[in-house]
Amino acid sequence: MNCLIEFKNINKSFDGKIVLNGINLKVIKGKSLVLIGQSGSGKSVLLKCLLGIIQPNKGQVIINDNSFFDQDLYLKEKILKRFGVAFQGNALFDSLKIWENISFKLIQTQRLSNKEIKDKVEHSMDLVGLSKSIMHQYPSQISGGMQKRVAIARAIIDEPEILIFDEPTAGLDPVTGGKINNLIIDNVKRLGCTSLTITHDMDSVRKIADNVAMISRGKITWNGKKSEIEKSSNKELNEFINII
Ligand SMILES: Nc1ncnc2c1ncn2[C@@H]1O[C@H](COP(=O)(O)OP(=O)(O)OP(=O)(O)O)[C@@H](O)[C@H]1O
Ligand SMILES: [Mg+2]
Repeated sequence: MNCLIEFKNINKSFDGKIVLNGINLKVIKGKSLVLIGQSGSGKSVLLKCLLGIIQPNKGQVIINDNSFFDQDLYLKEKILKRFGVAFQGNALFDSLKIWENISFKLIQTQRLSNKEIKDKVEHSMDLVGLSKSIMHQYPSQISGGMQKRVAIARAIIDEPEILIFDEPTAGLDPVTGGKINNLIIDNVKRLGCTSLTITHDMDSVRKIADNVAMISRGKITWNGKKSEIEKSSNKELNEFINII
């Protein structure tokens, strides 16, 4: 199997408090991996380690057989351009209008006409079920669920090779959540993307995952195909999927 991203023995502590205690995990190219785990278990911290936002105390992230942390800034940026990321807290720019938020990466990285940018923004908004009427508003003027969708629209606008979504359906109604799940499936199955999604939403897990990993006590305590979940005798995993 073709491994696109590999976390190797990632350790991270904050002020002596261990959050990640030797994470080993592979993200397979062209597959959808879903990461589950209790609140505070370190899922978002792991994602931030992958993106170079948080520096782990120990360990490596290997992307296409190269150590990400060993690359110079130019190469790191080049690698990160292949990612489309929607953060848990959305990380929208408050002072930019919705269309400016969504087109941010395009404007930074590609030379496109205003018409091309507008078309891409509209297409992206369409995919996440956002009305074009909010295009000229600011993030503070739209609802939390809409902000989430703006963050996802921004992540997918340049058709990235790797999708990284942290709780993409949290706080969304079931219809909109379903739309986001379908969008992830479509990107992975039809466009051949690779995705890493963090979620608490078991409906999402069932729909979008090829593979599932569970994080607990700083380690990956279960990792396997979605079809293997139901048969698993892992107590923690069973508890988790039955409660949520
Ligand atoms: N920058 C930071 N400084 C200090 N502690 C941090 C920092 N970022 C995260 N932590 C701590 O690391 C732990 C894991 O946080 P993280 O955000 O990864 O949890 P999570 O699994 O994503 O939870 P949730 O499901 O609620 O989003 C928490 O105890 C959190 O307080
Ligand atoms: Mg989180």
